[in-house]
Amino acid sequence: MKFLIINGPNLNLLGKREPGIYGEQSYDALCAMIREHAEKNASRADFFQSNHEGAIIDAIHAADGVYDAIIINPAAYTHYSYAILDALKAVSVPAYEVHISHIDQRESFRAVSVTAPACVGQLYGHGFAGYLMAMDYFLEGGK
Ligand code: DQA
Repeated sequence: MKFLIINGPNLNLLGKREPGIYGEQSYDALCAMIREHAEKNASRADFFQSNHEGAIIDAIHAADGVYDAIIINPAAYTHYSYAILDALKAVSVPAYEVHISHIDQRESFRAVSVTAPACVGQLYGHGFAGYLMAMDYFLEGGK
């Protein structure tokens, strides 16, 4: 399978950013872990990270017809970006939403995802492993 892994704002700072919440491993370490999981499963993962909403929307549009699945952590955009919700709805490639932290146990605004309704599922609170679990959903035949 061909996966596109999309990460939103501030996730480029993994490792430095609030390590008590997001862990001590870097964005590059996250990508390496995902790449290894893809290769182990005869698959391929490409990566896109941006701190800009429009760039994320453009990446979702460009994924249509190119990738089998999107794994997306929209980061703070999760909680208010109707534009990313609409972009995910506009393409036929299925998306799975992932969050590193327990979004339901933090500030109340984080418990709301406006983007999840456009996704086939949502996982949170599993750290980096959540990305691999979302990939497994598709690798095991989920659509
Ligand atoms: C996050 C949770 C969001 O609330 C936050 O804005 C992030 C990261 C997570 O992976 O836990 O940037 O999506």
